[in-house]
Order: sequence, then C-alpha cells, then structure tokens
Amino acid sequence: MKLLVTGGAGFIGSCFIKHILKKYPNYQVTNLDALTYCGNLNNLKDIEINPNYKFIHGNICDSNLVNKLVKDVDYIVNFAAESHVDNSIKNPDIFYETNIKGTLTLLNAAKSSNIERYIQISTDEVYGSLDDKTSYFTEDSPLRPNSPYSASKAGADLSVRAFYKTYELPVIITRCSNNFGPYQYPEKLIPFFISKLKNDEKIPIYGNGSNIRDWLYVYDHCSAVDLVLHKGNVGEIYNIGGHNEKTNLEIAKIILNQMGKNDSYIEFVHDRPGHDKRYAISNIKISAELGWKPLYKFEESMQQTIDWYLKNNYKTVKL
Ligand SMILES: NC(=O)c1ccc[n+]([C@@H]2O[C@H](COP(=O)([O-])OP(=O)(O)OC[C@H]3O[C@@H](n4cnc5c(N)ncnc54)[C@H](O)[C@@H]3O)[C@@H](O)[C@H]2O)c1
Repeated sequence: MKLLVTGGAGFIGSCFIKHILKKYPNYQVTNLDALTYCGNLNNLKDIEINPNYKFIHGNICDSNLVNKLVKDVDYIVNFAAESHVDNSIKNPDIFYETNIKGTLTLLNAAKSSNIERYIQISTDEVYGSLDDKTSYFTEDSPLRPNSPYSASKAGADLSVRAFYKTYELPVIITRCSNNFGPYQYPEKLIPFFISKLKNDEKIPIYGNGSNIRDWLYVYDHCSAVDLVLHKGNVGEIYNIGGHNEKTNLEIAKIILNQMGKNDSYIEFVHDRPGHDKRYAISNIKISAELGWKPLYKFEESMQQTIDWYLKNNYKTVKL
C-alpha cells in the first residue's frame, strides 16, 4: 500500500506517519510538506532512514508536483494546513490559500488518478461554538465556523463533499477535537504554557479562562485516522473526541500542579476576538461503527507531554 501524507512534518501528521510505518511495515509513505514555520523534520528523526519513507519538500498548492505524486499512490491523507487560530485572525489569506486551494489541488489530482481513498483531516472547530454545557457536536451539526481558520477548514470540507457527490471520489472526512502531546509547535495552548513555565515565565490566559475544549492525546487521534483509512465508509464524516472537556483555566492549573508551580503564574489577558465558548464532540459514530475508543488517560498523557518538553528543547529543523 502506498500513502501520500501531506503536512507530515507537523505535529499530528508526523505522529501518524510514525504510527503507520510501525504498524504496517510493508506500507510506503511519501510525506509532502512545505516546511512552513511549524513544519519540523526533527519530528521524524526516528524514521528518516526507513526505506519505506520518503520526504518531498513542496507545497500542496503546486498542482504539477501534486499530480505527479498522486499518480503513484493508493491513499491520500491530508493533514497539511495552516492551523493556528490567532495567526488566522492576523493574516487570513494564507489560510484560504493552503486550506482551501491546497485541498482543491489534492482533490483534482485524486480525481485524475485511481485513488482508493482520500482522507481529509478536519477539525471540530468547523461546527462553531456550543453555548450550553450539555450538548455535543455530531456529524450532522451545522457548520458555523467563527474564525478564518475554521472557515477555511469548513470550506475545504465542503469541497471534499462536493467531489464525492459530483465525481464519486472516495473521500472520508474526520473532525477531531483539540490534540495535545509531544512534538507540537509551542504556539498552541498546552506546549505554550509548558514552555513558558519551563522558562519561569507567567502564562497568559485569554479572558477569564472559561472557554472549554475537548482534549485528546495525539496517539488516540492517529489510531482513529488509521481505522477510518482502513475501515471507514466512503462519503462519511467521523467525529473524533475523547469526552475530555476542560476549561483553559483547568488546563493551566493541571500543568502548574504537575510542574510544581502555583497560581501566581497565571495572567489573564484580553480575550481573542470571536473566541469560541465551548467545543465538545460526540464520538458515538466512530465508536459504534468502527469500534474506536481513546486508550490514553488524560493526566498521565499530560505528565508524559510535560516530561517530553522538559527533556527536549523543541527545536525546529528544516532542510
Ligand atoms: N492540532 C490540533 O489540535 C488539531 C485538531 C483537529 C484537527 N487538526 C487538523 O489536523 C491537521 C494537522 O494539524 P497539526 O496540529 O499537526 O498542524 P501543524 O501546524 O503542526 O502542521 C501542519 C503541517 O502542514 C505543513 N504545511 C502547511 N502549509 C502547507 C502547504 N501549503 N503545503 C504543504 N505542507 C504545508 C506545515 O509545514 C506543517 O508541517 C490540520 O489540518 C488541522 O486543521 C488539528
């Protein structure tokens, strides 16, 4: 089996490539990544000499390159994206370029080849925000994105759906909740807090810290994508989440506690514009249809993540 993984030098894509090469020693993986500021070849050090692994430095918007690569693979898994909400507020254009035009380039290439499966890695953020404390996003929830990031991901999802309906391209979309774990670029909440505290600096929390996210260890996300790739039903959407909701303030306190620091390191700052209140995702469909369930316990995974950042200086390595 030959896979094209895009964005495989990023946090989740690199974890997925390592998962696949370990679990399926006969699979061949090509990683297409533009190595933007957060793409990091260090994330793949463990497997860079694996003969079944090939790295291609390039952009998913480059149709000549993408067409050439897609001709030679069975599956495409598209992780490549601009992924940081704060950046999308400051500079939305690159989000629409990569997340929508890049996805379209991959879809066009997949349409011209005999691709067996195209998996679009999306996010629960496309559903917008839940204002109550009890409901959950299901695969049928309306798309109500509130940031340029989530709007660009929603646009990509709708294009993927259109290629299924119009051209019968064998696509599947996954929508996962917030991930955490080793190798995440330290602009995102959890590694950002850990890195700040490692330097004995205060941690800034938007608003009053009451925004809720549903946290999943990255290894659980990768096992879900593996299942969807091999057993998911074409044309379907699968939500992936761990039913592990925490406010940002709770996350801060857990990290402070695990790093032996007190609440004086917390600093409340002006809220992010359009800050979604709560994300919570129902994983009933993927559990019932594909038998997926998260395996990792939150507190232990968080401790392992903290230990990883304390031991390893997150250092970006490019070509
Ligand atoms: N991090 C999360 O919590 C989370 C949750 C749900 C879904 N997702 C989705 O999962 C995917 C991966 O997220 P991540 O956290 O690993 O992101 P990341 O920012 O760590 O990695 C993104 C990767 O894509 C590459 N890339 C960016 N633009 C590119 C382009 N034009 N061509 C080729 N490569 C390009 C980058 O170099 C980087 O290696 C994204 O699609 C994101 O929307 C992330």
